[in-house]
Amino acid sequence: MKNYKRHLVTAALPYANGPIHIGHLAGVYVPADIYVRYLRSKGEDVKFVCGSDEHGVPITIKARQLGISPQDVVNKYHAIIKNAFERFGITFDIYSRTSSAIHHKTASGFFKKLYDDDKFIERTSEQYYDEESKQFLADRYIVGTCPHCGNENAYGDQCEKCGSTLSTNELINPRSALSGSKPVMRETSHWYLPLDTYQAFLEKWILEDHKEWKVNVYGQCKSWLDQGLQPRAVSRDLDWGVPVPVKDAEGKVLYVWFDAPIGYISNTIELIPDKWESYWKNEDTKMAHFIGKDNIVFHCIVFPAMLKAHGDYILPENVPANEFLNLEGDKISTSRNWAVWLHEYLDEFPNQEDVLRYVLCANAPETKDNDFTWKDFQTRNNSELVAVFGNFVNRAIVLAHKYFEGKVPVLAKLDNYDEETIAEIPLIKQRIADNIETYHFREALKEAMNMARLGNKYLADTEPWKLAKTDMKRVGAILNVSLQICANLCIAFEPFLPFSSVKLAGMLNFEPGKWRDLGRVDLLPAGHQLNHAELLFAKIEDDVIEKQLQKLQATKEGNTATNQETKPKCEPQKAPITFDEFGKMDIRTVTVLEAERVPKTDKLLKLTIDTGLDTRTIVSGIAEYYKPEDIIGRQVCVLINLEPRKIKAIESQGMILMAKQPDGKMCMVQPSDKIINGAQIN
Ligand code: MF3
Ligand code: ZN
Repeated sequence: MKNYKRHLVTAALPYANGPIHIGHLAGVYVPADIYVRYLRSKGEDVKFVCGSDEHGVPITIKARQLGISPQDVVNKYHAIIKNAFERFGITFDIYSRTSSAIHHKTASGFFKKLYDDDKFIERTSEQYYDEESKQFLADRYIVGTCPHCGNENAYGDQCEKCGSTLSTNELINPRSALSGSKPVMRETSHWYLPLDTYQAFLEKWILEDHKEWKVNVYGQCKSWLDQGLQPRAVSRDLDWGVPVPVKDAEGKVLYVWFDAPIGYISNTIELIPDKWESYWKNEDTKMAHFIGKDNIVFHCIVFPAMLKAHGDYILPENVPANEFLNLEGDKISTSRNWAVWLHEYLDEFPNQEDVLRYVLCANAPETKDNDFTWKDFQTRNNSELVAVFGNFVNRAIVLAHKYFEGKVPVLAKLDNYDEETIAEIPLIKQRIADNIETYHFREALKEAMNMARLGNKYLADTEPWKLAKTDMKRVGAILNVSLQICANLCIAFEPFLPFSSVKLAGMLNFEPGKWRDLGRVDLLPAGHQLNHAELLFAKIEDDVIEKQLQKLQATKEGNTATNQETKPKCEPQKAPITFDEFGKMDIRTVTVLEAERVPKTDKLLKLTIDTGLDTRTIVSGIAEYYKPEDIIGRQVCVLINLEPRKIKAIESQGMILMAKQPDGKMCMVQPSDKIINGAQIN
């Protein structure tokens, strides 16, 4: 075992495009926080870093949906996420964000060093390009018909209707989500990290030197390595992200999975500008990345290869990734609003942070996917927290008030049973520690609960209330032992249930010590004055659970969507233009003289119009909405100086102005009074 001097603990940077839900918490943040609190209690030197992941395509998509800028999106969610973590007692030393200047500088510098050291290869490939909005299209920006189920709005990477994973070239009739136009293939060049050249290094580092990693993590790594690693693009054509810091890279940004993990470094720099290097560059730092299973390849293969390529940095000692948590038997989904949102839980269950922490840890998806159910939440609260932990503490303190005026009684003499009970405490302590240090948080919590069970059983077996009439000395001894167990529970549970630990310490009128004090039975001296007992945990009634289930049911039926912002009814405003730009458009009132269908098409009508200046032909995609006979004779508005275009071999000399509704339906824009043809609209 290496002798580590300090710890660096990272928790996956959540995407700032939605709030935090229980899946995130159970998979990443609860275990990470338990681990860090335990290390702090042991007096270790530890830094716990996290922050929002604010780049990437999903954020730009969210911005378009809401009609706001990507920066506005991340500002909004960063605040919600940061605040919810704080209220939930997740004790990051820093929670920063990847849109910060310091992160841009760090990520940019990292790329530049690899670039200068010739660690990248440059490759040209063909990508979909939208000629109308003049940009390359990420997979998510391409929509089309799903080859499996016929859904006309499947994304380039996935069909949300039938759940198939797609690749853009499988889509039937691909179109750009930005402009609706048909994308074309265009060449673009990007930088790639040649992961294949790190294959041997990664095989040794993971498969040989880290056999102790969790089975799910080790297994995923092995399968990636067995398939043979390939070069991976580290840049993208996108206008949101960290710009690629080399010449002739306009319109290119770092791929979000390249910049985000560097966020761990940026955030450490921001936290301790003078000391960050000792955490990142010293082999005697123990680094652990807490993540969910969908992040394994990035943290175990890609990021380590980046760190290795850079050369200055240490690698993680462990990557304790969890599997997924489901909710009531269904996959948690932000877009379907199938989740228990942390900020909503905190509002609806005031002072019950620890109940959720408890349930998520007790039921954490450590080795396989697991299910969160509200029924289980209720049962664990009522029959474990309330009936065991809370009940024991309450009886010990209430009895001390009843018989000893709330003062810790003298421990006159221990009998065998007392000795046996007390001897259990250090054993439990050891088992908690061993389990936390090997990332078995469920087991660790079970052990802590065993300490509460021990106390509960001790009181039930010794029955001090029956001895009160005959042997006050013995009652005193029993309550002394019981109260010492309470004080131990305060320390043992602090990493898991920090709020309850503080509350219990308050009742005991006690400054909870650190981990090294755990196991002592002289934590509360005889004569020490206790405060009054309060309920440590409250019973959760059926109606509370029923309400949560109804809320989920409503989501299923599509009645409410508490987290989903309602899409604005109309498209967001376009980028501003100058008055001159507007003045260039020549829009006129015209009359439709003739109209006929364009043969072999469903959508097109060929119109002959009188523009007041001339008679000309335009082709318009309105056949779905208007029959030829409906529009002959109508006066409409036409942009007449639009470059002529050939559509189905017919030259179209202008474009009818149409109002497009959110459902895609189009409607012609007509002057309200009859006026001359050729009147200018401005
Ligand atoms: N935002 C990613 C996710 O939610 C995690 C990023 S972790 C980091 O899956 F390493 F990139 F920071
Ligand atoms: Zn489909």
